[in-house]
Amino acid sequence: MSTDALVLGIETSCDETAVGIVRGRKLLANVISSSVEEHARFGGVIPEIASRAHLEAIQSVIKQALSDAKVSLKDIDALAVTAGPGLIGALIVGTSAAEGLALGLEKPLYGVNHLSAHIAVDSLDSDHKLDPAIALLVSGGHSSILQVNNLTSDVKTIGTTLDDAAGEAFDKVARILGLPFPGGPSIDKESENGDPTAILFPRSFTLPKDTEKHQYDFSFSGVKTAVARLMEATPSQNRADVAASFQEAVVDVLLIKALSAAKNSGIEHLIIAGGVAANRRLRQLAQERCEKAKINLRIPPTKLCTDNGAMVAALGSLAVSAGIAPSAVGISASSSSGINKPIF
Ligand code: KG4
Ligand code: ZN
Repeated sequence: MSTDALVLGIETSCDETAVGIVRGRKLLANVISSSVEEHARFGGVIPEIASRAHLEAIQSVIKQALSDAKVSLKDIDALAVTAGPGLIGALIVGTSAAEGLALGLEKPLYGVNHLSAHIAVDSLDSDHKLDPAIALLVSGGHSSILQVNNLTSDVKTIGTTLDDAAGEAFDKVARILGLPFPGGPSIDKESENGDPTAILFPRSFTLPKDTEKHQYDFSFSGVKTAVARLMEATPSQNRADVAASFQEAVVDVLLIKALSAAKNSGIEHLIIAGGVAANRRLRQLAQERCEKAKINLRIPPTKLCTDNGAMVAALGSLAVSAGIAPSAVGISASSSSGINKPIF
């Protein structure tokens, strides 16, 4: 198959029913139907509601993506689908749809890792070299520092969170502050009017005594508890100042660790990916610090940071051009797959 294969990618691991189409590394379509509004009143994603929403949306999202890309199903050279990690019922809707299409069209299918796909989206619409790189992967379920030796076959975790993921911390703190779900975008917006230096929240595992054991690890439960205690003790706190100061603490720690991983590994490319990479303060401070440290920073466009189908198609397309064998029929979706398995 040519390196300019037409690949359709399906993402249904959480609350976005998303389909992307790429030709090689060129993005042709990226359609997303989100059930986030249906979950908002519960303050978190309800798996059953997500699965049902995927079932209702999947066919029309596929059709819209084909129409946007100006291609038809018979033109597709290969399919890719998120096989894990994610909500199991939600994943099964996507893998079943993808397998049905692959069997019907007699085309290869790649079950891909959602976390690797977040990083692979960096390949789109550019021909820069992808690996080796250090990746800071920050989403609702994961916060990791990864050494990406080869995006489709060799990714190693060098640091991870010991408790909450960064996005989870944003979501929980937003709830404490009475801001709407999902918390990341709410805190990002609220922080616009706040002073990030108003309150000095804890930065876990950044002191010399911790760095030996947890040099690249994170812990966000301390900062979340600190916000909760502060709001309990003084509910009249200026909410924008608390949001901005919390955001500053999280962003500061993420970047201290990611930049030191890049420096210490001698790999001067840093990719920041996952939903939290949409955060404006993280993007701005990353730019400033990487410029100073002479690290080549790459962050996907904001709309490609949160869950989407383009990232799945992008990783599928990289697998095709690397000559990786497609997944066997009967991909089993896995809720807890680790990053060490980019392609299933
Ligand atoms: O990657 P993603 O869309 O889904 C997962 O794979 O988890 O990430 C979702 C997470 C949520 O926790 C959400 O609050 C966070 O990303 N997020 C943000 C922003 N936009 C989304 N966090 C901080 N600032 C943002 N602008
Ligand atoms: Zn994600």
